Amino acid sequence: MNHPRLATTPAELSKAITELLEATGKDRPALGLVPTMGALHQGHAALAQAARADNDVVVASIFVNPLQFDDPDDLARYPRTLEADLALLGEAGVDIVFAPAEETMYPGGAPLVRVSSGDLGNRFEGAFRPGHFDGVLTVVAKLLHCAQPAVPAEYRAYFGQKDAQQVALIRRMVADLNFPVQVFPVPIVRAEDGLAESSRNVFLGPEQRKDALVLSQALFQLQERAAAGRPLDLPAAVELITSRGGVELDYFEVVDPLTLAALPAGPSDTLSGPALALVAARVGSIRLIDNAELSG
Ligand code: PAF
Repeated sequence: MNHPRLATTPAELSKAITELLEATGKDRPALGLVPTMGALHQGHAALAQAARADNDVVVASIFVNPLQFDDPDDLARYPRTLEADLALLGEAGVDIVFAPAEETMYPGGAPLVRVSSGDLGNRFEGAFRPGHFDGVLTVVAKLLHCAQPAVPAEYRAYFGQKDAQQVALIRRMVADLNFPVQVFPVPIVRAEDGLAESSRNVFLGPEQRKDALVLSQALFQLQERAAAGRPLDLPAAVELITSRGGVELDYFEVVDPLTLAALPAGPSDTLSGPALALVAARVGSIRLIDNAELSG
């Protein structure tokens, strides 16, 4: 197992990155960044493994970003598991872990200037969590700057496709604001029962976990219909979820994978190109999101 170097300030991080990139002896080595908020699970391990496979040097960050929590209780409840996180990242072959304190990331308190996620950030998750995506984009911009190689290098960043709206917004930020980094989405990791890996799953009781499976079942139903060239019939998939006691549906839509604009998905609509089904629901007080790519 690797023992990642720990950096707690941007200066320490930059020094460690330069040393490891130079040690490769390559003219243009590759650096992969995996931003996380800790409480790591197999979904994060897949991000780190993807970065490890593609790059000479891999950095993971662990920072619970207060800016992206609209509910202080949610922030206080967020699991903090640094030792276990370091072990998982070491196992995945990560070279450097950047774990700054809140005062290091936001020395003057909450920042005055933030990245705006625009209309795309106010829909779906943004409609339920006001300000969430401005907070995500602001911290991701800062993390991308902190890990920016100071010597010639390829620069890549890895994000889980489970947070599909987050990935779409980060891609737009990188394109719209000319960040010199390539964004790589990594497929969702599912438990054997189909539940998408999430830091929130630890809060589900055994019955709630069974209830939660209806989300992936409904997504798989859509995927099967799309693959067979049959009408999507989103209302039938919605019905599968709403008829399950214990689950409160927040939204379920079929959208364009890049713009997240709604696509027709009624009982007689077949797929005319790549699409993404996005779902969010509450199981008790636990809010879960999931999604699936649909293709014919
Ligand atoms: O996906 C997450 O864990 C967070 O939103 C991220 C990208 C690390 C920003 O805090």
